[in-house]
Amino acid sequence: MEGPLRRPTWRVMFYTSYAALANRIQEFLKMKIEFVPASEAESASGAWASAAFEGGGLSPGAARFDQAAGGALTRAIAAAKFTGAKGKTLQVLAPAGVSASHALLIGVGPQAGLNAARVETAAAEAYLALKTCGADTLTLSLAGASPEIGAAAALGITLAAYRFDRYRTREKADVKPTIQTVRIAVNDVPATKEAFAPLSALADGVIFTRDLVSEPANILYPAEFAKRVKALEPMGLQVEILGEAEMAELGMGALLGVGQGSSRESQLAVIQWKGGGDEPPVAFVGKGVCFDTGGISLKPADGMEDMIWDMGGAGAVAGLMHALAGRKAKVNAVGILGLVENMPDGNAQRPGDIVTSMSGQTIEVINTDAEGRLVLADALWYVQDRFKPQLIVDLATLTGAIVVALGHDFGGLYSNNDELAERLFKAGQTSGDALWRMPLPEAYEKQIESDAADVKNVGGRPGGSITAALFLQHFVKDTPWAHLDIAAVAWKKPSRVPTIPQGATGFGVRLLNQFVADSYEA
Ligand code: BES
Ligand code: MN
Ligand code: ZN
Repeated sequence: MEGPLRRPTWRVMFYTSYAALANRIQEFLKMKIEFVPASEAESASGAWASAAFEGGGLSPGAARFDQAAGGALTRAIAAAKFTGAKGKTLQVLAPAGVSASHALLIGVGPQAGLNAARVETAAAEAYLALKTCGADTLTLSLAGASPEIGAAAALGITLAAYRFDRYRTREKADVKPTIQTVRIAVNDVPATKEAFAPLSALADGVIFTRDLVSEPANILYPAEFAKRVKALEPMGLQVEILGEAEMAELGMGALLGVGQGSSRESQLAVIQWKGGGDEPPVAFVGKGVCFDTGGISLKPADGMEDMIWDMGGAGAVAGLMHALAGRKAKVNAVGILGLVENMPDGNAQRPGDIVTSMSGQTIEVINTDAEGRLVLADALWYVQDRFKPQLIVDLATLTGAIVVALGHDFGGLYSNNDELAERLFKAGQTSGDALWRMPLPEAYEKQIESDAADVKNVGGRPGGSITAALFLQHFVKDTPWAHLDIAAVAWKKPSRVPTIPQGATGFGVRLLNQFVADSYEA
């Protein structure tokens, strides 16, 4: 039994491919979340966890457990320096009088002001502290908590438990999670389930994005990305895929120029969710560069592998549409994904080439590594031309310069409309996908003036993220528009947030789901 793939001989009878079988197994092994009555928490076997408040006070669930375990938690608190401070944990192994193998108190800070966001984080921290403990179930006791709090805990754990392990055929037992089932013990099971339904749809969207972003470029090339999005149609989404011939017909010379050095066909995915009335849709546009070598303006080898996630913007738009359909959001939304691969090749576009965009404007391609803006130029024009949307938000891992400007904790927000910018900024604060507004100064237009064409695709080092945004603005009519440069936040290594494991973050899905909820469903 050597080799990483031991293929069962009977697989051909049931599955068309090994990948299909692997996916089914994956599905089966996924951690499950259940809601159970609070009264069942003390008798649970496996791992148990509940909250303690700053100052040492036990949550109602923890107090019940403490009583059943003859004061084991109280004694442990007295023996340790545990204060219930946010994020601190205290673990008691095999306490007498109960059947739990592990009992964990998670500090949530002061009881006053405890909200869903803090509970979401604390539940994720409790899960992370116990995920490899050896037990296969974790019971989180939330006796006395509201349905919203119970649902927030379930969301936190779902997001924290994400891992991209599709290509691991061997893994050391001590790093592999053992928890298979999480039971959230609450007072009102049906109401908590109901509160969790939209959050579960949101989590599914975030996870869809994380999977897409994590996939390597040999697997997820434009047509494969398009196929995975097309497969969402049963959720009630309408998905059209345009190939190179259709895009050429539309005059998308900017997008097509980027993909022309690749043996993979460029694609434009058009995803529609019609959950609203007759109003024009809100549009979301994503940069989907499945791999960015830089093209003829080739990137250095060091770190080039990171460019598998240069489709993070398109990934976020796809995950957002997944979430909106999953929770049947009351909005009309359209998602456009510009899917290409930027490769050097005998047929690749050259520095100095001039391309004609769908808008009719010509672009001098000074640097083939500034490709995202070329893809977006046509995707932005297309969505305005066809859908006349009430507003547009584009997301793109567009520039290294935004990493320099804002670091890894904020996406860059650019907008031609203060009111839209304000709504997005607020959604950033409530959702945790934080944004910081950047300027669109007219004076910097000089940097992208071309001698030979209407505009050129790079503006030099000063304000590199800003001139990229100014370039995009050339392809926006008078529609309210915002551009999110997410190059610093689409992927994190390491991550400092318990609900975001290292790697693909899914940034943008929670943000825009919140934006839609606040703007159209409040
Ligand atoms: N995909 C990159 C931007 C990027 C860089 C994303 C680092 C994530 C991490 C983009 O296509 C790019 O190459 N931008 C260039 C633009 C330059 C040539 C004007 C950059 O930022 O260096
Ligand atoms: Mn590039
Ligand atoms: Zn790129």
